[in-house]
Amino acid sequence: MPSEIEVSHINHALIAKGHPPRHLIHKFWARKPHNVVAEYIRHYTNEGDIVLDPFCGSGVTPIESLILNRKAIAIDLNPIATFITRMTLTPVDLGELKNKFKEIEEKVRDKILDFYVTVCPKCGRKAIVLASIWRITEPNPFELRLLCLNCNKKFKKSPTEDDILKLREVEHEKPCWYPENKLKYPNGVEFKEGTHKTEIDSIDKLFTKRNLISLSLIYREIESIDDELHRDMFKFAFTSMVHLASKLCPVAKPSERAHWSEFSATSFWAQHRYWIPPIFMESNVWMLFESAFYGRQGLLKGKEDSNENISYLKEAKKFEDFEKGANILISTQSALDLSNIPDNSVDYVFTDPPYGGGYTIF
Ligand SMILES: C[S@@+](CC[C@H](N)C(=O)[O-])C[C@H]1O[C@@H](n2cnc3c(N)ncnc32)[C@H](O)[C@@H]1O
Repeated sequence: MPSEIEVSHINHALIAKGHPPRHLIHKFWARKPHNVVAEYIRHYTNEGDIVLDPFCGSGVTPIESLILNRKAIAIDLNPIATFITRMTLTPVDLGELKNKFKEIEEKVRDKILDFYVTVCPKCGRKAIVLASIWRITEPNPFELRLLCLNCNKKFKKSPTEDDILKLREVEHEKPCWYPENKLKYPNGVEFKEGTHKTEIDSIDKLFTKRNLISLSLIYREIESIDDELHRDMFKFAFTSMVHLASKLCPVAKPSERAHWSEFSATSFWAQHRYWIPPIFMESNVWMLFESAFYGRQGLLKGKEDSNENISYLKEAKKFEDFEKGANILISTQSALDLSNIPDNSVDYVFTDPPYGGGYTIF
């Protein structure tokens, strides 16, 4: 018979704080406030206890558990969720990370930025298109938002004939590999082109040709990194921004801030479905990637935060490894079968199961 323990419950409201950098590296729709989760863990468990989250999502429960010197089991059916969790937790040398970024930058930055070159309407010198505004029904953008490096100012203009010619040239560039997977409903039925108020039936069609080519160049460089840790870290940065490079982005108000690292503030994803707005914004892919690395919500800041806060990490391959010094077990599986976790082995469960249509995956 398990003995009864008297528990004093939390009987006051906990005010949610904003996400710290470690939880901002990668978007996750249902991310819970870290301070509230941490307070529950602190209150109901002791150091060394095992905390389980069988619907861990972006990993707030396991990440905060480790920070509080608890052990954690992080389970989610979605491989992206467990990938975000693992990448957020894993320590990485920031100097080496910066060097790897520079290597990617040297190989593809100039080529990609050249895809977005235009002329400043004020001084007539070289400028970079930050975003092009398109009507879904038309073959060319009708507005360019640009940064003039000479004036150090942002401007708007209508594309000139030269801009359109340049775009056509870029569209004929040879892309590297990109995915052409069919989009499917949770029941496995494929999207059909022209139905559901969309022209898309596969992943590549979520992007303009220019952005698809640019993304494919960056992705090829990431795939060619020989060590797995850095390769995965840059995939993490890549997937954190790839949706912002798609046609799924409505037009945002132009930001006055001219610094490149603030660029992501001008781009957003409005709905959690594959909906291309009638007027959409095509953002500059290199700027997005740079911002996903150096930006306020970027990989570098996030890893600085997680490196500082997680002093010890040893990943378990199986539950029994907790006996050998491991403090985290991450598993991509359904919570409907937890037979890989022994009975009575978990001290505390903090979880946030799926809610809302289409989000539940069984
Ligand atoms: C509301 S979210 C959790 C968000 C998380 N608390 C956070 O802060 O990021 C619910 C999660 O349940 C996962 N999920 C849905 N069905 C599942 C299942 N059968 N087994 C495991 N995970 C599942 C989804 O993939 C999603 O990541």
